Amino acid sequence: MSAIESVLHEGRVFPPSAEAVAGATISGMDAYRALMAEAERDYEGFWAKLAKETLSWRKPFTKVLDESNAPFYKWFEDGELNASYNCLDRHVEAGNGDRTALIFETDDGTSTNITYKDLLGRVCRFANALKRRGVKKGDRVVIYMPMSVEGVVAMQACARIGAPHSVVFGGFSSKSLNERLVDVGAVALVTADEQMRGGKALPLKNIADEALAMGGCEAVKSVFVYRRTGGSVQWDASRDLWMNEAAGKEADTCEPEWLSAEHPLFVLYTSGSTGKPKGVQHSTGGYLLWAAQTIKWTFDWKPSDVFWCTADIGWVTGHSYITYGPLALGATQVVFEGVPTYPNGGRFWSMIEKHKVSVFYTAPTAIRSLIKIAEADSKVHPKSYDLSSLRIIGTVGEPINPEAWVWYHENVGGKRCPVVDTWWQTETGGHMISPLPGATPLVPGSCTLPLPGIMAAVVDETGQDVPNGQGGILVVKRPWPAMLRTVWGDPERFKKSYFPAELGGKLYLAGDGAVRDKDTGYFTIMGRIDDVLNVSGHRLGTMEIESALVSNPIVAEAAVVGRPDETTGEAVVAFVVLKRSRPEGEEAEKLANELRAWVAKEIGPIAKPKDVRFGDNLPKTRSGKIMRRLLRSLAKGEAITQDVSTLENPAILEQLAQVR
Ligand code: WT7
Repeated sequence: MSAIESVLHEGRVFPPSAEAVAGATISGMDAYRALMAEAERDYEGFWAKLAKETLSWRKPFTKVLDESNAPFYKWFEDGELNASYNCLDRHVEAGNGDRTALIFETDDGTSTNITYKDLLGRVCRFANALKRRGVKKGDRVVIYMPMSVEGVVAMQACARIGAPHSVVFGGFSSKSLNERLVDVGAVALVTADEQMRGGKALPLKNIADEALAMGGCEAVKSVFVYRRTGGSVQWDASRDLWMNEAAGKEADTCEPEWLSAEHPLFVLYTSGSTGKPKGVQHSTGGYLLWAAQTIKWTFDWKPSDVFWCTADIGWVTGHSYITYGPLALGATQVVFEGVPTYPNGGRFWSMIEKHKVSVFYTAPTAIRSLIKIAEADSKVHPKSYDLSSLRIIGTVGEPINPEAWVWYHENVGGKRCPVVDTWWQTETGGHMISPLPGATPLVPGSCTLPLPGIMAAVVDETGQDVPNGQGGILVVKRPWPAMLRTVWGDPERFKKSYFPAELGGKLYLAGDGAVRDKDTGYFTIMGRIDDVLNVSGHRLGTMEIESALVSNPIVAEAAVVGRPDETTGEAVVAFVVLKRSRPEGEEAEKLANELRAWVAKEIGPIAKPKDVRFGDNLPKTRSGKIMRRLLRSLAKGEAITQDVSTLENPAILEQLAQVR
């Protein structure tokens, strides 16, 4: 049975405990339905109320939603606020300056607590350092950092001065970094000498130097370097500054820039089905509202909670559920530098025990790989740790198979913690479809129901609703405050990708397939409907990997597809035609490894094909179209049962079926 079939046949239901319902912010399904009805009745009023309750406004907004230039929607536009003020100052002003904001734990297990007052001072110093180098409101700053307090400080400092940041994940290559620096038009870069992951030091500054040397980003006048390891780096004194030295010279106060709610807070690049990655642009007001609001609802957040989201700040999850959401609420959270398997596979569980984490949020891939390790070694099994502090556990990034869900629920959540399977995307800013811990009966493998105010639906190719039980295209019918505002520098692409004319131009197209349960209306996500892969919860465009492969001088042609993978969800399979004759045996092995390394260098290690297969040609129709459906079957090792009568060169299938 495929993963999706097993979800659709899932009969187990886990209703919330009476205790969970009693203390919850949204308590019971009637309370959920009442909020949904309120949003239906008065959509703008519903959002206006939340925006006033959850955020502090310098100047109140008078208009909620502006649809006059749809789909370029505007929310709370004449309201003014500052994200960093909302995340820091207001808590200090309310007398909570001594509350712990961050519990930072390094790769080797040392932890430091940083209070809201400390964090505010550090953010102000760095904001002043940015200003001293001429960075001003509207300028873009790229952040290429390890998981660190400094990474959060850099993001918050940008928010403070109104300079949109663009964080690039530390695992991306110099070429990927260069493309993003160029596309976003950065004037400054914040990086580190090296990053520590799993006991190994990995370069960042050297890669950043390479990226800058590739050209097109001459506007970058300052490179701030956080000294993490003290490893040796090249230095260009006209451009490079040690972050701590530069910040250390500055005052620890800095008046925040008061910004329109529509001022761009950040741009974050993500893969699409075609071409280069898209710069997803988010707003200040609507985005921040939803990052905070969803934590109140999905994680039923309480001030006494110790929150831990294991994502990297290089992804949207790290933006919404580390840098912005928890801080906007004044929460205490764990920030982790390292990896789940170092020094052993019990690292997450030992950290939950040590820091008494009550809300834990991670990815299905991590769970699946830790299941394997735990089942093989009882010492690192979650049952060997005291996880009684946990209250709510969540997942994000990819579908979670019912087996992994049940294991997580039993072994990590002690059968007592609700599992919130949160569906959302870089573009949505925060959770969209997710259980509510004090209301929703849980079904393993289903992200259940839309959060209040989110009008999600499943439609057919023409935009018409399909009946429950029938698969279709996942859409959102009304704009919501945290939606992306545009694709940086490419409004046409924004319209085409997310509000396609084929669906009528008014529905937000998520790019996922979904089905709703006949009885409950629960959503189950069936994966991407475009040429986007999801490997370990990371989005990768097949086209991007194909262009990386064909940029290698020995490659004539390449086609990339996904294949289901037990641990990573999907794995990258590349079918390659070389300019020379088809390699076999050891030579094929050697070239496959070369091409894998090439992709890692071009994009980043996350995009490395797991499987590279060589053919004299690719399966094409007579009109020259690559038959990807066939490639997907070949990648899975399935027998070809499809009709191949339109195939130009059927003999090729046998070659491509061969796994080395
Ligand atoms: C894509 C978005 C959301 C932050 C991290 C990834 C898939 C995400 C789920 C889930 C099934 C999920 C979708 C989506 N996805 N969460 N709970 N169940 N699929 O953000 O890189 O923008 O990727 O991840 O396919 O479209 P992203």
